[in-house]
Amino acid sequence: MREFEIVVATDDEGGIGRDGDLPWRLPADLAYFRELTTGDGGNTVIMGRHTWESIPERYRPLPGRRNVVLSRLGVHPLPEGVLQATGLEEAVALAGAGGQVCVIGGGAVYREAVLRPECSRVHLTRIAGRFGCDTFFPAIEAVEEEWVEEFRSGSRAGHGVHYEFLRYRRR
Ligand SMILES: NC(=O)c1ccc[n+]([C@@H]2O[C@H](COP(=O)([O-])OP(=O)(O)OC[C@H]3O[C@@H](n4cnc5c(N)ncnc54)[C@H](OP(=O)(O)O)[C@@H]3O)[C@@H](O)[C@H]2O)c1
Repeated sequence: MREFEIVVATDDEGGIGRDGDLPWRLPADLAYFRELTTGDGGNTVIMGRHTWESIPERYRPLPGRRNVVLSRLGVHPLPEGVLQATGLEEAVALAGAGGQVCVIGGGAVYREAVLRPECSRVHLTRIAGRFGCDTFFPAIEAVEEEWVEEFRSGSRAGHGVHYEFLRYRRR
């Protein structure tokens, strides 16, 4: 399997979602996410079925990126051009050779993806506070023998929250 990166936003408890949606509205993070995952073009985003369904129809597929939806059951119908895979390896293979591959959630997909040696980086937006989430991302910050912090933006504020962009690299 080729290398891929994870893009995720968590609160102080590692929470990523609540009731099938994001618990916060942070346009600066959405812009950061769009920039990271789009890159120069030709990138692929891989997401679980619940995350796909959480994106309002008018915003999906995510433009300028190859969209791959993971499902064991199958998702019908999917818009033209959106690919479907029944496993992470198959999803990464669908990305082909070019561009970057970004795994964009949700919880079930992150839990599997973060354990893979091919997962080379985690782009983490850390949002200060607790949002009563029901879906979580594993706390990689504490696993220092595996993950090293390579970037930290410093604390920022906007839309009523404090947040920080971090990047971790697998050792
Ligand atoms: N904060 C963030 O950065 C962020 C990012 C993304 C999502 N989220 C949030 O996370 C929540 C959704 O996460 P979730 O854990 O409920 O769902 P999810 O990971 O988005 O989707 C789970 C579904 O994906 C499919 N799937 C997962 N792993 C698979 C594999 N290895 N092979 C084949 N299919 C696989 C299965 O679909 P089938 O049931 O069809 O088989 C599974 O039921 C929402 O609240 C969303 O807003 C947050």
